[in-house]
Amino acid sequence: MVVGVMGAMPEEIDPILKRLENVKKHEVADNVYYTAFYGSLDLVVAYSKIGKVFSALTAATMIEKFGVQKMLFSGVAGAISPALHIGDLVAATKLCQHDLDITAFGHPYGYVPEGKVYVEADPRLLEIAASVAYKQGVKLKRGIIATGDQFVADAERKAWIGQTFNADALEMEGASVAVVCDALGVPFFVLRAISDAADMDAGFDFDAFLQSSAVKSADFIFMILDEL
Ligand code: ADE
Repeated sequence: MVVGVMGAMPEEIDPILKRLENVKKHEVADNVYYTAFYGSLDLVVAYSKIGKVFSALTAATMIEKFGVQKMLFSGVAGAISPALHIGDLVAATKLCQHDLDITAFGHPYGYVPEGKVYVEADPRLLEIAASVAYKQGVKLKRGIIATGDQFVADAERKAWIGQTFNADALEMEGASVAVVCDALGVPFFVLRAISDAADMDAGFDFDAFLQSSAVKSADFIFMILDEL
C-alpha cells in the first residue's frame, strides 16, 4: 500500500525522514517528495509549505502522481479548547475552513455551493489511532480542527472560530488536505500536537514548541504506520 505522510513545514517532516532508510528524492511541481519503504508500506513524504493552497497541491500531487492510497498529516496546531495544552495530541474527527466566507449570499461560514462545511476524517484510521494510543499508553484527544490562511494570535479571532465551528484546534492546512482527499476518494487522518494557544503569546510559543510538538506528532504517526 502507498501511504502519504505530509506536513507543512520542514520541522514537521524531518522527524519522519530521520527514521527512514534509502530515501529517494523526487522533484515535482516545484516541491520535493521523498519515497522510501517502511515495513510492507511504500511511503511518500513531503512538506507542502504553509497554507491551504500549497497543502492542497501537495496532497493532490501525492495522490495523482505518486499513487498515494491513504494520507496521514502530521504537524502542530494552536489550541482553542481550554482542555488542550502544549504538547497534547489531537486527531481531527472533521475539518472546516474558518476563513471561507460567502455569508453575503446567505450561506453559512465555511460553506460554498456543492461543498460542505465539514469534511470527516476516515473512521477506520481514527479507530486505529485510538487503539494504538490505548496500547502504547499515549494520550490522544479527538476534536474538530479549523483551517485558514492565517496564523491566529488573537483571543477574539480564536473565540470566534471556536464558537462558529465548535472547533477545538486551528491550523493552516488540514481542511484543504481533507477536501482534496475526500474529492479523490483517499482515506485521510490529520494529527496535530499543540504548539500554542492561538492567543497573544502564540508567536512566541509557536517558535518555542514547534520542534518538540512536531516530534510528538511524528512519533505517533509511526505508531500508526506500524499498524497499517
Ligand atoms: N499552527 C500552530 N499554531 C497556529 C496558530 N496559532 N495559527 C495558525 N496555525 C497554527
